[in-house]
Amino acid sequence: MKKTISIKIAKYINDMAPEEIYDLLEIPPVADMGDFSLPCFTMAKKFRKAPAQIAVELKEQIEKNGDETGFTRIQAVNGYLNFFLNRKEYMQEILSGAIREDYGTGTKGAGKVICMDYSSPNIAKNFHVGHLRTTIIGNSLYKIYAKLGYQIVRINHLGDWGTQFGKLIVAYRKWSSRELVEEKGIEELLRIYVLFNAEAEKDPVLNDEARAWFAEMEKGNPEALALWEWFKEISMVDFARVYRLLGVDFDFYTGESFYMDKVPAVVAELKQKGLLEESEGTNIVSLEQYEMPPCLITKKDGSSIYHSRDLAAVLYRQQEYHFDKCLYVTGMEQKLHFAQVFKVIELMGYEWHRELIHVPYGLVSLEGAKLSTRTGNIIYAEDILKESIKRAMEIIEQKNPVLPEKEQTAEKVGVGAIIFHDLYNQRIKNVSFSWENVLNFDGASGPYVQYTYARAGSILRKAQAEGKESIDARLLTTQAEYELVKVIDRYPEKIKEAAERFEPFILARYAIELAAAFNKFYQDCPILTAAAGVKTARLGLTGLARKIIRETMGLLGIECPEAM
Ligand code: ARG
Repeated sequence: MKKTISIKIAKYINDMAPEEIYDLLEIPPVADMGDFSLPCFTMAKKFRKAPAQIAVELKEQIEKNGDETGFTRIQAVNGYLNFFLNRKEYMQEILSGAIREDYGTGTKGAGKVICMDYSSPNIAKNFHVGHLRTTIIGNSLYKIYAKLGYQIVRINHLGDWGTQFGKLIVAYRKWSSRELVEEKGIEELLRIYVLFNAEAEKDPVLNDEARAWFAEMEKGNPEALALWEWFKEISMVDFARVYRLLGVDFDFYTGESFYMDKVPAVVAELKQKGLLEESEGTNIVSLEQYEMPPCLITKKDGSSIYHSRDLAAVLYRQQEYHFDKCLYVTGMEQKLHFAQVFKVIELMGYEWHRELIHVPYGLVSLEGAKLSTRTGNIIYAEDILKESIKRAMEIIEQKNPVLPEKEQTAEKVGVGAIIFHDLYNQRIKNVSFSWENVLNFDGASGPYVQYTYARAGSILRKAQAEGKESIDARLLTTQAEYELVKVIDRYPEKIKEAAERFEPFILARYAIELAAAFNKFYQDCPILTAAAGVKTARLGLTGLARKIIRETMGLLGIECPEAM
């Protein structure tokens, strides 16, 4: 609607394009200030007039054209031009667009490819709460971009290569056994990894041994590689459980090891382009000019490193998928790492360095939440998810013990609550967990939105309606109905904004706004007891709101149970 209106208004303002108007148009906070409002302040310079005067003149100019404009009233107030729409027409127009199957689906991404690098946990280490965030944010961005028509390549850049595997091999040979690892899995790997680090403090020779084993891995020593392969398998089983709970998938699990043998070509290219320098036995690219520490390319023993494996990875991705953009979702602490990698790509002369985007996020803390931790103070993603499911189950037992499919519902509610809580604020903000907020059915939470969805479904079931009833906007005359339609109108714009800013929180906030508007409608407007025509229209609106709630939650990576 905003778009239609911008085009209309632009006809009456000289020298302003509909796009400029679109960017200026605001939605007033209260209804008596109109449906849309155009602030005239930025036009003052252009027209060399005071904003208030511009508003008055524009009002006259538009009004001269009578009903042709489709506005019922225009108001000039303190430099703002407030537009009141013909509600019936406006509502009908929105509703006929919104009931279409493809409402909100964009074409912006048609023919474009985005590589997304997210989740990317480290083998033989815990899948901790930080990895939970990249997984959740990455998955939501994937859904959002897919909705806009982009083709997405989902890449899990596993941390499956590096000196830590040398450490693990040494530790395994010294302090563990096949039986123990088989019995205890990743817990045993973690135990000996922690033990190694403690022991190496006392006896630094252990570190040399670890480096030597890693060098063996790089050389292809079969004994070393067999152990590494085995550790990887064990970890993958663990990760798979978390991914199943979250409903997350990847197209490729091409981790760091995949690029190991592609690093020598990068080294050669850097050398040929005159970028490689030697420094105390290592190879680096100096970034002094750009006020960054040098980017390490190979270590003293010639082995590859996180940075060079990332260089090889991005070159491979460009060659293989011809991406238009490549996103990396990781914690903020990797900001410098990506700045270095992207700079080296730029220095190598690749124009597409501009399309490499680091999407950082803040830390997770646990505010007074008691969580079982298996070792030390590491918080496992799986433990958090399970705890949330358990608590959701307790609430269901308390509130609705006869609910069918309790287990599945508890899983959707528990997991959805964690995802929603993670995505409710800007990425960069730290997330602090408190179970009260995560599972608050009345607050801005996942369960609140899911509950609203279930409520809408229950109304439709009671009416034996399909939720696809035709909606005659002439019968929707209350303020609450109007407000709900206005929120529905904003759905496509919210998707675009979330995509442009790489910010799922835009849609999480929208989900709350939509659920609140629906609940207000439900409170103010009798549905099942309304007169036949009105009832049909209201059931149609209920079905429509329900569909958009489900879709919005879907874009966040959250499923909505049919009943709660
Ligand atoms: N494995 C890394 C970590 O856990 C994240 C990898 C991110 N992706 C990348 N291409 N570097 O911190």
